Amino acid sequence: MGILLYFLLLISTTIGALSAECSPFAAPPNLSNCTKPKWSQQGITIAGDGTEGNSTTKLGHPFCIFLDQNDDLLVCDFGNHRVQKFQSGSNVGTTICGALNNTGFYPGDVFVDSDSNLFIADYYNKRALKLFPNSSDSKIIDTKNSYPGSIYPDNQGNIFVLQLVDEGYGSPWQLVKYSIETGEKTRFAIELTNPSGLYVDECGTAYTANARGTNDGTIQKIINARDPKGIVLVGGLKEPTDVTLDRYGNVYFVERGESRIRRINARDGTVETVVDKQGVLVFGTQYWNDPRNVAFDSKHNLYVADFKNFRVQKFLFEGGDLFC
Ligand SMILES: *[C@@H]1O[C@H](CO)[C@@H](O)[C@H](O)[C@H]1NC(C)=O
Ligand SMILES: *[C@@H]1O[C@H](CO)[C@@H](O)[C@H](O)[C@H]1NC(C)=O
Ligand SMILES: *[C@@H]1O[C@H](CO)[C@@H](O)[C@H](O)[C@H]1NC(C)=O
Ligand SMILES: *[C@@H]1O[C@H](CO)[C@@H](O)[C@H](O)[C@H]1NC(C)=O
Ligand SMILES: *[C@@H]1O[C@H](CO)[C@@H](O)[C@H](O)[C@H]1NC(C)=O
Repeated sequence: MGILLYFLLLISTTIGALSAECSPFAAPPNLSNCTKPKWSQQGITIAGDGTEGNSTTKLGHPFCIFLDQNDDLLVCDFGNHRVQKFQSGSNVGTTICGALNNTGFYPGDVFVDSDSNLFIADYYNKRALKLFPNSSDSKIIDTKNSYPGSIYPDNQGNIFVLQLVDEGYGSPWQLVKYSIETGEKTRFAIELTNPSGLYVDECGTAYTANARGTNDGTIQKIINARDPKGIVLVGGLKEPTDVTLDRYGNVYFVERGESRIRRINARDGTVETVVDKQGVLVFGTQYWNDPRNVAFDSKHNLYVADFKNFRVQKFLFEGGDLFC
């Protein structure tokens, strides 16, 4: 009797533990009649004009892009040492951090949280910044001897930083979690090769793109610090850079070496191309030249930072179910 009770207790606590497991994504609705999501294959240039420049309507090597909760676009205008903000529908940028003469400032990544705090990976200054809205207040996290390339705050007061350790040629990259308050650091992943792009889900699982060689890039999922290599979700990619997820857990990424945007379907792990090679017009202007970053707005429109064309393009969501 005692033993039976013990087993019953064991089973019920096990079930309790399983149901308390964190699930970061929305459950897909009825899948039996869903339709695949579609995006326009013809981009609209919404920031920058295809030529390099430093005026309000131009960009100098746009690196990261981020859509905030108002669907305003933030761009790491890397070559101009500034972070530009383009209000939704406007092609005129305002500088929200940095300046043309601030030549040591190379923003590698930005993030705006729901309280309008701005996070910046301040690459060459080897620090991560948290800037508070309407205030000169900030938190500076010294990344010590490392260059932060990508940044992602979680909902627990930490920021995840993908950083290149400054030890000369062939230096390792690390994924590190810093407490914003204390700067205390937890090393998360170490065995990454040229990773770029970072997404952290609500359960603290990180995703990154790992460009290993020309043809063996991977998208990796890193659950915790005991799992330094992470789980390879897909391999054999040509220089993947940047990842982002939707609410159903589909993983979108830039396959830079193939000039296309793809996604890993959360239903079955298949890889689908969502925006294919851009090559519609004859004289080159339609071609992407080194796409680096992908982002979405609240209406699921897709944005691409077209690095060497000095512009950001938007691809309209044409309907369908994201969960399909
Ligand atoms: C899902 O959709 C199919 C096709 O419309 C329908 O036959 C089925 O009853 C639906 N299932 C649920 C759980 O709504
Ligand atoms: C699937 O079918 C159900 C029942 O007919 C309907 O309510 C639902 O909207 C459909 N879902 C999609 C994604 O078309
Ligand atoms: C901005 O661009 C103009 C025109 O190309 C150039 O003459 C000027 O030196 C640039 N300014 C800075 C600060 O780089
Ligand atoms: C950049 O220019 C502004 C305005 O002219 C000036 O106030 C600032 O000190 C300069 N900053 C640097 C880093 O030179
Ligand atoms: C910052 O100030 C502007 C102008 O006063 C205001 O419209 C905006 O709501 C403020 N933002 C935050 C996050 O407090």
